[in-house]
Amino acid sequence: MLPAAVSDTDPAIDPLSAVTHPDPYPYYRELATHRPFFRDQRLGLWVAAGAREVAEVLSHPECRVRPPAQPVPPVLAGSPAGDLFGRLIRMNDGAAHAPLKGLLMPMLATIDASIAAHRAAALAELLDADTALSAGRINGFLFTLPVVTLADLLGLPVAVDRATAAAAAGHVAAFAAAQSPLADANAVQAGADAAQWLGNWLADAVPAAGPLPSLHQAARAAGIDAQAVSANTIGLLVQACEATAALAGNTLLHLGRGTVRAGTAPEVLAAQVAVLDPPVQNTRRFLAADARLCGHDIKAGDAVLVLLAAASCIGMADGKRPWTFGHGRHACPGDRLAQALAGATVRALLARGADPAALARAFRYRPSLNARIPHFC
Ligand code: HEM
Repeated sequence: MLPAAVSDTDPAIDPLSAVTHPDPYPYYRELATHRPFFRDQRLGLWVAAGAREVAEVLSHPECRVRPPAQPVPPVLAGSPAGDLFGRLIRMNDGAAHAPLKGLLMPMLATIDASIAAHRAAALAELLDADTALSAGRINGFLFTLPVVTLADLLGLPVAVDRATAAAAAGHVAAFAAAQSPLADANAVQAGADAAQWLGNWLADAVPAAGPLPSLHQAARAAGIDAQAVSANTIGLLVQACEATAALAGNTLLHLGRGTVRAGTAPEVLAAQVAVLDPPVQNTRRFLAADARLCGHDIKAGDAVLVLLAAASCIGMADGKRPWTFGHGRHACPGDRLAQALAGATVRALLARGADPAALARAFRYRPSLNARIPHFC
């Protein structure tokens, strides 16, 4: 069962607090239907909530992933975390990053989802500490298994032993957490240390198998800087971290509440939960120039909060893709893989005795302005 119904007039809810609200969906549905595009004066943001408006913003040429005057968040600028951030294709628009993106996307497409699921099952054995399956261990699994599996599929030496796997996943999570506007000084410092660690790890790693050697070769031939390739390899792990943990965690929650059918393959459940309770609830765009957007005149520098989870209340993008994976130029290329990895993580936890009903009785959402990530207590 869902928590006690919350009215769509709940005064405590707004487009940012909705992310970690017990049940934001009546509110999102109300916005998508009656306020598909509006200015939230208090938050200082335009808000796109209707499916058509979300698609329009994400396809508009003047809507960029970073404020044009601020390619790197000021708290990260000048640190190893800032250097890494500035090289990510996810965080850049424009021609300079197109050649690398043109190599990374087909590389990801070569990773077979069912091979990924098998590999995740094998790596779950490696991560097994033979201790009782506490809530803490379940949280650890959610943040470790998908990232370690992706690193392994790329050919990185992560499956050496449990400590190496945990260290790699821990540093990826620390770098991901430092990007949040909610990160405090300690989290930002941990992100900088993590970026340094990950850079060194990748520099020392000699991928013998997997797609990385041919990616590096193709990048060299195209004159692409090796550091950009390494940064974006780390970027893939970062993209896979919080969102996949959220998808797996939310799948466990819905199993526990009985809102999805027990006994269904976890990969199928993850695909359902991606629509029902989206792990990534929103993304942002920043206007590079004055533009007419969704019937409004928007000024250069204005920010638009794009409510993927609101659009999700009334269908799928292009009729077939969960909105949580984005749309347009920066749509997630890891969607199928993410569902396979989340499903495999749920499968591994159920096989080890995780009890979804008990988990659904004791959890909170991690503080976040865009991802809905359960933390089991
Ligand atoms: C449940 C898990 C995931 C969700 C919900 C998710 C969602 C998203 C979203 C919403 C975006 C677009 C962000 C924006 O432009 O504002 C995105 C981009 C991206 N995702 Fe995912 N993602 C997930 C897992 C993954 C995984 C496993 C990978 C890698 C294998 C991945 C790789 C990427 C990359 C490379 C981009 C940037 C694309 C670009 O810059 O054009 N994601 N993802």
